[in-house]
Amino acid sequence: MTEDLINKKDIYFPSYHGTNDNLINLLNRATQSLCDWFSKAEEFGPLPFDENFKCIMPEEDGNTTEDLFSEIESLLNNSFNPVHPCSLAHLDPPPLIFSILGDLIAAGLNNNLLAYELSPSITLLEDSLCKWFAKKIGFSDSSGGIAASGGTLSNLNALIAARHNAGLGSDPNSVLLVSEDAHSSFIKCTRIMGLDETNLVRIKTDKKGCMDIKSLRKTLDNCSIKNKKIFAIVATLGTTVRGAIDPIKDISRICKERDIWLHIDGSIGGIFAITSIPIEGLNNLNQANSITINPQKIIGITKTSSLLLVSDMNTLKNTFSTGLPYISSKDNIINRGEMGIQGSRPAEVIKLWLGFRFLGLKGVEDILKSSIKRKDFFIENICKNKFEICSGPLHIVSFIPKGLRPKDTDSWTKNKVNELMKKNFMLSRPKFKGNYYLRVVMGNYNTTNSHIEELLKFLNAYQ
Ligand SMILES: Cc1ncc(COP(=O)(O)O)c(C=O)c1O
Repeated sequence: MTEDLINKKDIYFPSYHGTNDNLINLLNRATQSLCDWFSKAEEFGPLPFDENFKCIMPEEDGNTTEDLFSEIESLLNNSFNPVHPCSLAHLDPPPLIFSILGDLIAAGLNNNLLAYELSPSITLLEDSLCKWFAKKIGFSDSSGGIAASGGTLSNLNALIAARHNAGLGSDPNSVLLVSEDAHSSFIKCTRIMGLDETNLVRIKTDKKGCMDIKSLRKTLDNCSIKNKKIFAIVATLGTTVRGAIDPIKDISRICKERDIWLHIDGSIGGIFAITSIPIEGLNNLNQANSITINPQKIIGITKTSSLLLVSDMNTLKNTFSTGLPYISSKDNIINRGEMGIQGSRPAEVIKLWLGFRFLGLKGVEDILKSSIKRKDFFIENICKNKFEICSGPLHIVSFIPKGLRPKDTDSWTKNKVNELMKKNFMLSRPKFKGNYYLRVVMGNYNTTNSHIEELLKFLNAYQ
């Protein structure tokens, strides 16, 4: 065995005795690289990707730590940088510092939320934190929840539970109702559930982008005539393009009348419900059967961080519990791998818990309020006679020049995104109702009014 390999073996795995000096040195070095990258954001811009970036694959002999640190640096320097103050394109804010620590601890622990015996403290932590969130939004003692890797999976967990609890199994007549502005992941969810797109019924939205209740009632009546069985209605709490909130109170009344599962996709706006920030339309959440919240999208809990909260934990247990024959279980504790689609799962809850413990509710409110203030400032100062603006009570604004022909919106938004990128502003261009729009998402805590003023100086100069 070469000398090199003998030395390397000291850093294959953490040592179970001694001080793990080698590991500490490596962690310090990795931390330094990461922090250098954060502070280079201003120089590099939000998206410094070099098309010549090389993905070097593993070779017969392992590489040296020097090689690897140089690869790490290259990887960082070619990455999207969410801490840049003008990173305004998506629902991907800067990472909360205590959340970064949470990821480190979770990686080192390498516990597995599949089963209590593989993650005793984390199992209890996830259970308690989900219950805490569920109570905060007004659910009763029977409530709780489960974490999953992202909003799509949380929504999918909810829909599978809804269909199972409606006793519809794989009934090809079962349908799901969502608004026409609901997230595209519902298409994916129905496919995964063995349904086709005709089983996903889209309800019209009104001028503000909210589900139209008259159209909902009409669709429900049509469904009963055609013997379609509705297993859930989804109300979106914060649509992706304009941050609209569906009329939850009316929808929940209809769901109660007809005994239909109400799922709220609160991937964007759900987190506001645990604060006292007044948001128009944010009410009656506790009337739902389930709600997705996705703190990675606005608070900056590092990805992924998503919870499905349910009013009754038995609904998840009934749907997903299979027994785990190779695991020693405890009578009074349900293995978390039996409460959702995922089996093995990392302890993502740690970064959410640490983030919220550090911020406290006041810190959470501060971050959320600041995003609304930035949105308000943007809307107050954008030239209203030049732009058609689509926005709602949350922190997202989509806009295009008034009078632009639909076929010209593609090239206009493409050019503007490119021109803005040269000025280090990163915006997105969603396609929405046949037109492309420019979109700003004001969830970046590093963005100040002077950044917004600079952006608007460019936009408002449009002739
Ligand atoms: C309203 C809404 N729901 C669900 C999702 C899917 O979330 P994820 O990408 O975390 O799976 C998104 C993503 O942006 C969204 O905007």
